[in-house]
Amino acid sequence: MKFSTIATLALLASESVLGSPIIEYRSKTQGVVHFPIEARSKPKERLARRLQKRDSNSTVTMTLDNDIKDGAYLTNITIGTPGQSIRVQLDTGSSDLWVQSSDNPTCLVSPDFCATTGKFDGASSSTFTSTSEDFTISYADGTSADGVYVKDTLSFSGISIEKFTFGLASNASSSLGVFGIGFDTNEAARTTYENLPDMLVSNGLIGVKAYSLWLNDIDASTGSVLYGGIDLGKFTGSLETVSMLTSSGSTYGPFLLSLTDVVYVSAFSSTTILSSSQGGNAINVILDSGTTYGILPESMVSAIVQAIGSGQYSEDYGLYLLDCSLQSSSATVNLTFNNAATLAVGLKQLVVPIEYNSQGSTVCALGVQPVSSASANSLQYLLGDAFLRSGYIVYDLDNKKISIAQAVFNSDTTDIVVLNSTGVTGESGQGSSKTSAAFALRIPVYTVVVCVALVASVFF
Ligand SMILES: *[C@@H]1O[C@H](CO)[C@@H](O)[C@H](O)[C@H]1NC(C)=O
Ligand SMILES: *[C@@H]1O[C@H](CO)[C@@H](O)[C@H](O)[C@H]1NC(C)=O
Ligand SMILES: *[C@@H]1O[C@H](CO)[C@@H](O)[C@H](O)[C@H]1NC(C)=O
Ligand SMILES: *[C@@H]1O[C@H](CO)[C@@H](O)[C@H](O)[C@H]1NC(C)=O
Ligand SMILES: *[C@@H]1O[C@H](CO)[C@@H](O)[C@H](O)[C@H]1NC(C)=O
Repeated sequence: MKFSTIATLALLASESVLGSPIIEYRSKTQGVVHFPIEARSKPKERLARRLQKRDSNSTVTMTLDNDIKDGAYLTNITIGTPGQSIRVQLDTGSSDLWVQSSDNPTCLVSPDFCATTGKFDGASSSTFTSTSEDFTISYADGTSADGVYVKDTLSFSGISIEKFTFGLASNASSSLGVFGIGFDTNEAARTTYENLPDMLVSNGLIGVKAYSLWLNDIDASTGSVLYGGIDLGKFTGSLETVSMLTSSGSTYGPFLLSLTDVVYVSAFSSTTILSSSQGGNAINVILDSGTTYGILPESMVSAIVQAIGSGQYSEDYGLYLLDCSLQSSSATVNLTFNNAATLAVGLKQLVVPIEYNSQGSTVCALGVQPVSSASANSLQYLLGDAFLRSGYIVYDLDNKKISIAQAVFNSDTTDIVVLNSTGVTGESGQGSSKTSAAFALRIPVYTVVVCVALVASVFF
């Protein structure tokens, strides 16, 4: 066992578009934090939306690969004609897609850098066009990418979208490209353009700018994002809907909710960690699939550790180390948002492996970085994958709502309801785990997993 990484959580103030400093987290644990720390001031002008609004009774399913060792959920896409295969990290905390350019000097010097995730060569695509706008994005974990905005055909899961705008990075500090699916107003570009949720609607592929995130069990190899619908087979109980909070004034930034109650629930007792109705201070939290862990106030994290009954803070990791056997505990941390929607986060999902040997995980930690509440004014508290896995979470970008239900893990049941402009209306899940024989498919779904031969395009 070797603590190969140092995890000092350096808090670096930087200018944010909100006018107040926000905090940049640098963590040397393998976890990634992906929400952009820098948004450009934008002119008010908006893209002319396509006026014809087509009805759609379809949904689009994007399969996610659980790359637990890198702490990320990846998806396979192809770009260009013929298609070039690329793997990118799915990110609800940012709003731009970017991929590595084949002329990235780092790719040329050390080809391994880009080999696993792929890189894109515009010159080999007959549908490629460039724009004159520079692309620059910086994330909260200190990584960044820059290059130019370009357009080409994007394909995944059997659908294709022409003239899709994305960043082509000629310089990036991470080899893994990012697929941001947040609000278009949160894009890194000076001028707002149609990103994936917009394009799926304007191309008539889905009827409403909304999608359902099902990361699935920590041990599962895949999860999914269902665009335009909800899958009743993937959750139990009913979807409770709450309103997203604005970041400042009337502007919606990252997906933000108020965390009003936290209760640790074990088999025999429950311990209140935060109760805003009893004088506790609710905190605003970002729901971000592009971040591996959570980021919460130190007082809250230590209270959870105390309730669990064991756990030692590690300066090296910036996390509380725990016995991996806690992954089989039935205890949950119940989180309530906006006093209305509760998500029970199982310890199995929250206790994450952080070091491995050939036998499996050797060191586990509570998947939440404690940060000093002294700097709470400007902190961005956040719930990443370690928390989101437990939920079936519907992000409705049109209605500015988030709906939450308890995920059913490893469910084989598919029962899709297409969302219309009304959004989620309290639907109940009927998911059951893998043994269930029930299988219903109400509507056409694009679930084809596209396997593309990359070779031809590379040597084109
Ligand atoms: C909905 O799907 C049915 C069957 O696939 C199709 O015939 C119909 O045209 C679709 N309606 C809309 C509004 O897309
Ligand atoms: C994505 O591509 C990788 C590598 O090419 C492959 O191992 C993985 O199974 C693919 N994922 C899906 C969901 O098709
Ligand atoms: C690439 O980005 C890094 C980090 O932002 C920067 O230090 C470096 O100068 C850049 N290299 C080029 C060739 O632009
Ligand atoms: C915690 O959440 C679970 C699952 O929703 C629920 O059954 C339980 O009653 C909750 N417990 C408390 C104390 O809120
Ligand atoms: C949207 O769907 C809900 C339930 O599926 C339905 O009750 C409602 O009438 C629909 N609204 C519109 C505007 O079509």
